[in-house]
Amino acid sequence: MANSDTYKGIYAMHKYWGKKPFNEISKFIEKYSEPNETVMDCFCGSGVTLIEAVKAGRKAVGVDLNPIAIKLAHASLTAVNIDEINKIFENIKTTLQETINSMYEMEFEGENTMVTHTIWKNGEPIEVWYRTDKEKKKIRAGNSTDIKMCNEPAIEAKWYPKSIMFENSRINVGKEQKVSDLFTPRALVGLSLLLDEIKKIEDEKLKEVFELTLSGTLSQASNLVFVIRRRKKNKGEKPRAEVGSWVIGYWVPEEHFEINVWNCFENRFKRILKGEQEIYSLFSEKSDSYMQEYVKLINGSATQIPIDDNSVDYVFIDPPHTNRVLYMEQSLMWNAWLGLDEEIEWDNEIVVTEAKNRKKKNSDNYNLLLDKAFGEIYRVLKPNRYFSLAFNCLDDNIWIDILNLSVHHGFEIRDIVPLEYSATSVI
Ligand SMILES: C[S@@+](CC[C@H](N)C(=O)[O-])C[C@H]1O[C@@H](n2cnc3c(N)ncnc32)[C@H](O)[C@@H]1O
Repeated sequence: MANSDTYKGIYAMHKYWGKKPFNEISKFIEKYSEPNETVMDCFCGSGVTLIEAVKAGRKAVGVDLNPIAIKLAHASLTAVNIDEINKIFENIKTTLQETINSMYEMEFEGENTMVTHTIWKNGEPIEVWYRTDKEKKKIRAGNSTDIKMCNEPAIEAKWYPKSIMFENSRINVGKEQKVSDLFTPRALVGLSLLLDEIKKIEDEKLKEVFELTLSGTLSQASNLVFVIRRRKKNKGEKPRAEVGSWVIGYWVPEEHFEINVWNCFENRFKRILKGEQEIYSLFSEKSDSYMQEYVKLINGSATQIPIDDNSVDYVFIDPPHTNRVLYMEQSLMWNAWLGLDEEIEWDNEIVVTEAKNRKKKNSDNYNLLLDKAFGEIYRVLKPNRYFSLAFNCLDDNIWIDILNLSVHHGFEIRDIVPLEYSATSVI
């Protein structure tokens, strides 16, 4: 059973959909494998199974088709010196904080102010939150300077992704919509400057930490942040606006926030740092050669796993649940910003989607590919060992298909148990 502690530290560094509660997974690992044996998750997502396996002294093999998932899993299993991380952050701060903030600085009523949040409605800034030297939060109406500063920033953008997304009304992606359309011109400048600075980091491990800080920043820095309006207790009071957060889909609400990019980055960094501290305490004493021997990560398809027959002692998987989450389409924002979207093997994704240009991705294709993946699991798993499948679906027919697939490949069903996890698993 998941509780709020389940999604702290490492597991709160970066959003990924369908994260499983680590405390539950670790019980499965303890039950079905022994120390130094090999545990595989060929739909590893953010890497929860792998992290728990290595924590329990098992070897871990992770496969996922989604490049950002493998990057996140890799970073979560790599101890990086915390002082070095802080040093790089301070360098980025010295180089960019002032420049990025200058796009949000303006004089208002004779005071120097810094805009922290703007609420846009149909292209108009209807409410602006700002701070002054004396006060942390003040609110005013938007004006023509706000529009100009946002749409015609004084600083030129560096590279940012212009990748076209798959048209799909289910996740609110329109025809020819680009990843960059999810951001204001001002946010694109700020994010592109950060990315440019991150690309200069020479040490690959440190660079990865900051790439994930940037991709973790994207959603709060985008136009996907909706406005929560709660009624005040006193009658007649105007509802107060609160900041929402991105959950799923690319819906740009009619009324949305634009949050200062530097603040988004700094806040994400604090979260990443907490995760990195946990990673350091877990894995820093294990040598590089130990980790190389104990962790194998493959950005590829579960339908073709490049490892030997009979080489795995236990498999735990949590494959995509038909059309519940469109992992690859949803992750395009992250992958595109990190330049990881060119190599995605879209045709191999196990998913059911209504995207206009992914017509083949129906339930037949889903079953066909999942069948291949089960075949691969059977091939790599040693005889008489266990394979656990987490699945969340209300459709009895899909359950029957899944159970049939297992039996068809020669697995015997030993146990079926409920696994509850909280809605906050989108963190
Ligand atoms: C339910 S999620 C797994 C979440 C994971 N258990 C976690 O805790 O983060 C399913 C994963 O399957 C991946 N996937 C989809 N098709 C795949 C394929 N053909 N091979 C490998 N992974 C695939 C998706 O990218 C997604 O990360």
